[in-house]
Amino acid sequence: MKQIQHELGNWYAAHKRALPWRETKNPYFIWLSEIILQQTRVDQGMAYYFKFIEAFPSVFDLAKADEQVVLNLWQGLGYYSRARNLHRTAKQIVDEFEGQFPESYDGLLKLKGVGPYTASAIASFAFDLPHAVLDGNVFRVLSRLHNWHEPINSTQGKKDFEKFSNELLDKKNPATFNQAIMEFGALHCKPTQPLCHECPLDIYCSANSEKTVGQLPIKLKKQGVRKRYFVFELIQPKKGVILLQKRNEKDIWQHLYQFPLKEFSSQEEKELYLSNNNSRFLSKEYKHILSHQHLFCHFIAVNSSEKDSGEHVQIQDLDQYPIPRAIDRFLDDYGLDIFRS
Ligand code: ADE
Repeated sequence: MKQIQHELGNWYAAHKRALPWRETKNPYFIWLSEIILQQTRVDQGMAYYFKFIEAFPSVFDLAKADEQVVLNLWQGLGYYSRARNLHRTAKQIVDEFEGQFPESYDGLLKLKGVGPYTASAIASFAFDLPHAVLDGNVFRVLSRLHNWHEPINSTQGKKDFEKFSNELLDKKNPATFNQAIMEFGALHCKPTQPLCHECPLDIYCSANSEKTVGQLPIKLKKQGVRKRYFVFELIQPKKGVILLQKRNEKDIWQHLYQFPLKEFSSQEEKELYLSNNNSRFLSKEYKHILSHQHLFCHFIAVNSSEKDSGEHVQIQDLDQYPIPRAIDRFLDDYGLDIFRS
Protein backbone atom coordinates (compact mmCIF):
# COMPACT_ATOMS: atom_id res chain seq x y z
CA MET A 1 0.00 0.00 0.00
CA LYS A 2 2.69 2.43 1.06
CA GLN A 3 4.57 2.01 -2.22
CA ILE A 4 1.44 2.56 -4.27
CA GLN A 5 0.61 5.71 -2.29
CA HIS A 6 4.16 6.90 -2.78
CA GLU A 7 4.15 6.25 -6.54
CA LEU A 8 0.77 7.93 -6.93
CA GLY A 9 1.99 10.94 -4.96
CA ASN A 10 5.10 11.29 -7.14
CA TRP A 11 3.11 10.88 -10.29
CA TYR A 12 0.62 13.52 -9.14
CA ALA A 13 3.32 16.05 -8.23
CA ALA A 14 4.74 15.71 -11.73
CA HIS A 15 1.52 15.61 -13.77
CA LYS A 16 -1.27 17.37 -11.95
CA ARG A 17 -3.25 20.06 -13.71
CA ALA A 18 -3.48 23.43 -12.02
CA LEU A 19 -7.17 23.55 -11.14
CA PRO A 20 -8.61 26.45 -9.16
CA TRP A 21 -10.60 24.34 -6.69
CA ARG A 22 -7.38 22.61 -5.67
CA GLU A 23 -5.98 25.92 -4.45
CA THR A 24 -8.62 26.45 -1.80
CA LYS A 25 -9.77 24.96 1.49
CA ASN A 26 -13.06 26.84 1.33
CA PRO A 27 -15.76 24.13 1.60
CA TYR A 28 -18.26 26.28 -0.30
CA PHE A 29 -15.96 26.59 -3.32
CA ILE A 30 -15.08 22.90 -3.13
CA TRP A 31 -18.72 21.89 -2.93
CA LEU A 32 -19.59 24.12 -5.91
CA SER A 33 -16.78 22.63 -7.99
CA GLU A 34 -17.83 19.08 -7.17
CA ILE A 35 -21.47 19.65 -8.12
CA ILE A 36 -20.41 21.26 -11.41
CA LEU A 37 -17.94 18.44 -12.11
CA GLN A 38 -20.65 15.85 -11.63
CA GLN A 39 -22.22 17.38 -14.67
CA THR A 40 -19.36 18.19 -17.01
CA ARG A 41 -15.69 17.72 -17.79
CA VAL A 42 -12.94 19.68 -16.09
CA ASP A 43 -12.23 22.03 -19.02
CA GLN A 44 -15.85 23.12 -19.46
CA GLY A 45 -16.47 23.02 -15.70
CA MET A 46 -13.80 25.61 -15.05
CA ALA A 47 -15.75 28.38 -16.83
CA TYR A 48 -18.89 27.56 -14.83
CA TYR A 49 -16.93 27.44 -11.60
CA PHE A 50 -15.59 30.96 -12.18
CA LYS A 51 -19.02 32.25 -13.21
CA PHE A 52 -20.61 30.89 -10.04
CA ILE A 53 -18.03 32.11 -7.56
CA GLU A 54 -18.06 35.52 -9.20
CA ALA A 55 -21.86 35.78 -9.10
CA PHE A 56 -22.13 34.19 -5.64
CA PRO A 57 -18.90 34.69 -3.66
CA SER A 58 -20.39 33.09 -0.56
CA VAL A 59 -23.05 30.56 0.30
CA PHE A 60 -25.19 33.48 1.57
CA ASP A 61 -25.13 35.08 -1.88
CA LEU A 62 -26.20 31.86 -3.53
CA ALA A 63 -28.92 31.22 -0.95
CA LYS A 64 -30.55 34.59 -1.49
CA ALA A 65 -30.29 34.53 -5.29
CA ASP A 66 -33.33 34.20 -7.49
CA GLU A 67 -33.78 30.62 -8.73
CA GLN A 68 -34.12 31.95 -12.26
CA VAL A 69 -30.67 33.57 -12.05
CA VAL A 70 -29.12 30.34 -10.80
CA LEU A 71 -30.74 28.33 -13.59
CA ASN A 72 -29.54 30.85 -16.15
CA LEU A 73 -25.95 30.56 -14.98
CA TRP A 74 -26.28 26.78 -15.14
CA GLN A 75 -27.52 26.97 -18.73
CA GLY A 76 -25.63 24.64 -21.06
CA LEU A 77 -24.87 22.06 -18.37
CA GLY A 78 -28.25 20.33 -18.58
CA TYR A 79 -29.89 18.31 -15.81
CA TYR A 80 -31.33 21.35 -14.11
CA SER A 81 -32.50 19.50 -11.03
CA ARG A 82 -28.83 19.67 -9.99
CA ALA A 83 -28.91 23.45 -10.22
CA ARG A 84 -32.14 23.61 -8.23
CA ASN A 85 -30.65 21.30 -5.62
CA LEU A 86 -27.54 23.45 -5.47
CA HIS A 87 -29.71 26.44 -4.71
CA ARG A 88 -31.81 24.57 -2.14
CA THR A 89 -28.73 23.23 -0.41
CA ALA A 90 -27.28 26.73 -0.13
CA LYS A 91 -30.51 27.81 1.58
CA GLN A 92 -30.34 24.79 3.86
CA ILE A 93 -26.77 25.65 4.88
CA VAL A 94 -27.80 29.20 5.69
CA ASP A 95 -31.06 28.30 7.46
CA GLU A 96 -29.99 25.21 9.39
CA PHE A 97 -26.22 25.62 9.77
CA GLU A 98 -25.79 29.40 10.02
CA GLY A 99 -23.92 29.42 6.72
CA GLN A 100 -21.22 27.02 7.94
CA PHE A 101 -20.58 23.74 6.18
CA PRO A 102 -20.69 20.79 8.59
CA GLU A 103 -17.12 19.74 9.35
CA SER A 104 -17.67 16.00 9.46
CA TYR A 105 -18.49 13.34 6.89
CA ASP A 106 -21.80 12.46 8.58
CA GLY A 107 -22.72 16.11 8.90
CA LEU A 108 -22.00 16.71 5.22
CA LEU A 109 -24.22 13.77 4.28
CA LYS A 110 -27.16 15.65 5.81
CA LEU A 111 -26.93 18.23 3.04
CA LYS A 112 -29.36 17.81 0.17
CA GLY A 113 -27.74 16.46 -2.97
CA VAL A 114 -24.60 15.45 -1.09
CA GLY A 115 -23.99 11.69 -1.26
CA PRO A 116 -21.01 9.61 -0.18
CA TYR A 117 -18.78 10.82 -3.01
CA THR A 118 -19.34 14.54 -2.45
CA ALA A 119 -19.21 14.18 1.33
CA SER A 120 -15.84 12.40 1.07
CA ALA A 121 -14.55 15.00 -1.38
CA ILE A 122 -15.48 17.96 0.86
CA ALA A 123 -14.40 16.17 4.07
CA SER A 124 -10.97 15.40 2.65
CA PHE A 125 -10.27 18.49 0.50
CA ALA A 126 -11.59 21.10 2.92
CA PHE A 127 -11.08 19.46 6.32
CA ASP A 128 -8.31 16.88 5.73
CA LEU A 129 -10.48 14.07 7.05
CA PRO A 130 -9.56 10.49 6.06
CA HIS A 131 -12.45 9.62 3.74
CA ALA A 132 -11.68 7.98 0.40
CA VAL A 133 -13.44 9.27 -2.70
CA LEU A 134 -14.96 6.79 -5.13
CA ASP A 135 -15.83 8.23 -8.51
CA GLY A 136 -15.66 6.73 -12.00
CA ASN A 137 -11.94 7.38 -12.23
CA VAL A 138 -11.20 5.73 -8.90
CA PHE A 139 -13.37 2.69 -9.70
CA ARG A 140 -11.34 2.19 -12.85
CA VAL A 141 -7.96 2.45 -11.16
CA LEU A 142 -8.97 0.12 -8.32
CA SER A 143 -10.65 -2.45 -10.56
CA ARG A 144 -7.45 -2.72 -12.58
CA LEU A 145 -5.05 -2.74 -9.64
CA HIS A 146 -7.02 -5.62 -8.10
CA ASN A 147 -8.08 -7.22 -11.40
CA TRP A 148 -11.54 -7.13 -9.85
CA HIS A 149 -14.40 -8.27 -12.10
CA GLU A 150 -17.31 -7.65 -9.76
CA PRO A 151 -19.50 -4.95 -11.41
CA ILE A 152 -18.82 -1.55 -9.86
CA ASN A 153 -22.56 -0.85 -9.63
CA SER A 154 -23.62 -4.16 -8.06
CA THR A 155 -24.30 -4.30 -4.33
CA GLN A 156 -21.32 -6.56 -3.74
CA GLY A 157 -19.10 -4.49 -6.04
CA LYS A 158 -19.87 -1.29 -4.16
CA LYS A 159 -18.83 -2.96 -0.89
CA ASP A 160 -15.65 -4.38 -2.41
CA PHE A 161 -14.55 -1.11 -3.92
CA GLU A 162 -15.31 0.84 -0.80
CA LYS A 163 -13.04 -1.53 1.10
CA PHE A 164 -10.27 -1.22 -1.52
CA SER A 165 -10.46 2.56 -1.55
CA ASN A 166 -10.28 2.89 2.23
CA GLU A 167 -7.37 0.43 2.40
CA LEU A 168 -5.39 2.37 -0.16
CA LEU A 169 -6.18 5.86 1.16
CA ASP A 170 -3.18 7.69 2.57
CA LYS A 171 -4.82 8.65 5.85
CA LYS A 172 -2.16 11.21 6.67
CA ASN A 173 -2.68 13.07 3.39
CA PRO A 174 -6.25 12.35 2.35
CA ALA A 175 -6.71 15.56 0.34
CA THR A 176 -3.67 15.07 -1.88
CA PHE A 177 -4.17 11.32 -2.13
CA ASN A 178 -7.79 11.67 -3.26
CA GLN A 179 -6.90 14.30 -5.85
CA ALA A 180 -3.99 12.15 -7.00
CA ILE A 181 -5.97 8.96 -7.59
CA MET A 182 -8.74 10.82 -9.42
CA GLU A 183 -6.20 12.64 -11.58
CA PHE A 184 -4.37 9.40 -12.28
CA GLY A 185 -7.61 7.85 -13.51
CA ALA A 186 -8.46 10.89 -15.61
CA LEU A 187 -5.09 11.34 -17.31
CA HIS A 188 -3.18 8.07 -17.10
CA CYS A 189 -5.31 5.02 -16.28
CA LYS A 190 -7.83 6.13 -18.91
CA PRO A 191 -10.88 4.18 -20.10
CA THR A 192 -9.31 3.65 -23.54
CA GLN A 193 -5.65 3.69 -24.40
CA PRO A 194 -4.38 3.70 -20.83
CA LEU A 195 -0.65 4.43 -20.62
CA CYS A 196 0.35 1.00 -19.24
CA HIS A 197 3.71 1.02 -21.03
CA GLU A 198 4.87 3.95 -18.88
CA CYS A 199 2.91 3.28 -15.70
CA PRO A 200 4.44 3.83 -12.27
CA LEU A 201 2.02 1.24 -10.85
CA ASP A 202 2.60 -1.49 -13.44
CA ILE A 203 4.31 -3.91 -11.06
CA TYR A 204 1.41 -3.59 -8.59
CA CYS A 205 -1.32 -3.89 -11.20
CA SER A 206 -2.95 -7.34 -11.40
CA ALA A 207 -4.89 -6.45 -14.53
CA ASN A 208 -1.63 -5.49 -16.21
CA SER A 209 -0.07 -8.89 -15.49
CA GLU A 210 -3.30 -10.73 -16.36
CA LYS A 211 -3.78 -8.66 -19.54
CA THR A 212 -7.32 -7.68 -18.59
CA VAL A 213 -6.86 -3.90 -18.40
CA GLY A 214 -9.08 -3.30 -21.45
CA GLN A 215 -12.00 -5.25 -19.90
CA LEU A 216 -12.10 -3.32 -16.65
CA PRO A 217 -14.04 -1.92 -14.93
CA ILE A 218 -17.18 -4.02 -15.40
CA LYS A 219 -20.45 -2.18 -15.17
CA LEU A 220 -23.96 -3.61 -15.28
CA LYS A 221 -26.01 -1.99 -17.99
CA LYS A 222 -28.99 -0.01 -16.80
CA GLN A 223 -32.14 -1.04 -18.44
CA GLY A 224 -35.38 0.67 -19.16
CA VAL A 225 -34.58 3.79 -21.09
CA ARG A 226 -37.80 5.65 -21.80
CA LYS A 227 -38.18 7.00 -25.33
CA ARG A 228 -40.21 10.18 -25.81
CA TYR A 229 -41.29 11.86 -29.03
CA PHE A 230 -41.50 15.65 -28.91
CA VAL A 231 -42.59 18.34 -31.34
CA PHE A 232 -41.93 21.89 -30.19
CA GLU A 233 -44.09 24.48 -31.87
CA LEU A 234 -42.71 27.88 -32.74
CA ILE A 235 -45.74 30.14 -32.46
CA GLN A 236 -45.53 33.85 -33.17
CA PRO A 237 -48.68 35.71 -32.14
CA LYS A 238 -47.03 38.75 -33.72
CA LYS A 239 -43.76 39.60 -35.39
CA GLY A 240 -40.76 39.69 -33.08
CA VAL A 241 -42.63 37.76 -30.39
CA ILE A 242 -42.59 34.05 -29.57
CA LEU A 243 -44.63 31.96 -27.17
CA LEU A 244 -42.86 30.27 -24.28
CA GLN A 245 -44.36 28.06 -21.60
CA LYS A 246 -42.99 27.34 -18.18
CA ARG A 247 -42.83 23.68 -17.22
CA ASN A 248 -44.33 23.16 -13.83
CA GLU A 249 -45.18 19.46 -13.88
CA LYS A 250 -43.10 17.01 -11.91
CA ASP A 251 -41.21 15.78 -14.92
CA ILE A 252 -37.94 16.59 -16.66
CA TRP A 253 -37.04 20.30 -16.94
CA GLN A 254 -39.12 21.47 -14.02
CA HIS A 255 -39.32 25.30 -13.92
CA LEU A 256 -37.58 25.72 -17.28
CA TYR A 257 -39.13 27.37 -20.31
CA GLN A 258 -39.93 25.72 -23.60
CA PHE A 259 -41.76 26.34 -26.84
CA PRO A 260 -45.27 24.85 -26.61
CA LEU A 261 -44.84 21.11 -26.79
CA LYS A 262 -46.79 18.25 -28.29
CA GLU A 263 -45.77 14.82 -27.09
CA PHE A 264 -46.53 11.60 -28.99
CA SER A 265 -46.47 8.04 -27.77
CA SER A 266 -44.61 6.63 -30.77
CA GLN A 267 -42.41 7.62 -33.66
CA GLU A 268 -45.23 6.68 -36.08
CA GLU A 269 -47.76 8.88 -34.37
CA LYS A 270 -45.37 11.79 -34.42
CA GLU A 271 -44.53 11.30 -38.11
CA LEU A 272 -48.22 11.23 -38.97
CA TYR A 273 -48.68 14.55 -37.20
CA LEU A 274 -45.67 16.11 -38.94
CA SER A 275 -46.73 14.91 -42.38
CA ASN A 276 -50.24 16.32 -41.97
CA ASN A 277 -48.93 19.65 -40.85
CA ASN A 278 -47.85 21.94 -43.65
CA SER A 279 -45.69 24.18 -41.52
CA ARG A 280 -43.36 26.69 -43.15
CA PHE A 281 -40.44 25.34 -41.16
CA LEU A 282 -39.43 21.88 -39.97
CA SER A 283 -36.13 21.30 -38.21
CA LYS A 284 -33.96 18.25 -38.38
CA GLU A 285 -34.43 15.69 -35.61
CA TYR A 286 -32.58 16.21 -32.35
CA LYS A 287 -31.87 13.16 -30.28
CA HIS A 288 -31.22 14.25 -26.75
CA ILE A 289 -30.03 11.79 -24.14
CA LEU A 290 -30.86 12.20 -20.47
CA SER A 291 -29.92 9.72 -17.78
CA HIS A 292 -33.09 7.61 -18.10
CA GLN A 293 -34.75 9.01 -21.18
CA HIS A 294 -34.03 9.44 -24.86
CA LEU A 295 -35.84 12.41 -26.37
CA PHE A 296 -36.53 12.68 -30.09
CA CYS A 297 -37.26 16.31 -30.83
CA HIS A 298 -38.46 18.28 -33.84
CA PHE A 299 -39.21 21.97 -34.06
CA ILE A 300 -41.87 23.33 -36.40
CA ALA A 301 -43.28 26.77 -37.10
CA VAL A 302 -47.06 26.87 -36.87
CA ASN A 303 -49.61 29.62 -37.29
CA SER A 304 -50.86 31.31 -34.21
CA SER A 305 -54.42 30.59 -33.12
CA GLU A 306 -56.86 31.87 -30.51
CA LYS A 307 -56.35 29.02 -28.10
CA ASP A 308 -52.56 29.24 -27.85
CA SER A 309 -51.36 29.98 -24.38
CA GLY A 310 -48.03 30.95 -22.96
CA GLU A 311 -45.87 33.94 -22.22
CA HIS A 312 -45.30 36.41 -25.03
CA VAL A 313 -41.54 36.86 -25.17
CA GLN A 314 -39.54 39.21 -27.37
CA ILE A 315 -37.21 37.16 -29.57
CA GLN A 316 -34.17 39.14 -28.46
CA ASP A 317 -35.02 38.39 -24.81
CA LEU A 318 -35.02 34.61 -25.28
CA ASP A 319 -31.59 34.24 -23.68
CA GLN A 320 -32.94 35.58 -20.39
CA TYR A 321 -35.09 32.49 -19.92
CA PRO A 322 -33.62 29.23 -18.64
CA ILE A 323 -34.30 26.68 -21.35
CA PRO A 324 -33.42 23.00 -21.65
CA ARG A 325 -30.21 22.05 -23.37
CA ALA A 326 -32.16 20.25 -26.12
CA ILE A 327 -33.78 23.55 -27.15
CA ASP A 328 -30.49 25.39 -26.80
CA ARG A 329 -28.93 23.02 -29.30
CA PHE A 330 -31.67 23.82 -31.80
CA LEU A 331 -31.23 27.59 -31.31
CA ASP A 332 -27.45 27.24 -31.65
CA ASP A 333 -27.89 25.48 -35.00
CA TYR A 334 -30.61 27.58 -36.58
CA GLY A 335 -30.11 30.97 -34.95
CA LEU A 336 -32.83 33.52 -34.33
CA ASP A 337 -33.31 34.25 -38.05
CA ILE A 338 -35.89 31.48 -38.37
CA PHE A 339 -38.32 33.69 -36.44
CA ARG A 340 -40.37 36.42 -38.13
CA SER A 341 -39.09 39.71 -36.81
N1 ADE B 1 -13.66 15.55 -10.91
C1 ADE B 1 -14.43 15.58 -9.83
N2 ADE B 1 -13.83 16.23 -8.82
C2 ADE B 1 -12.65 16.63 -9.27
C3 ADE B 1 -11.58 17.34 -8.73
N3 ADE B 1 -11.65 17.80 -7.48
N4 ADE B 1 -10.52 17.56 -9.49
C4 ADE B 1 -10.48 17.10 -10.75
N5 ADE B 1 -11.44 16.43 -11.32
C5 ADE B 1 -12.52 16.19 -10.60
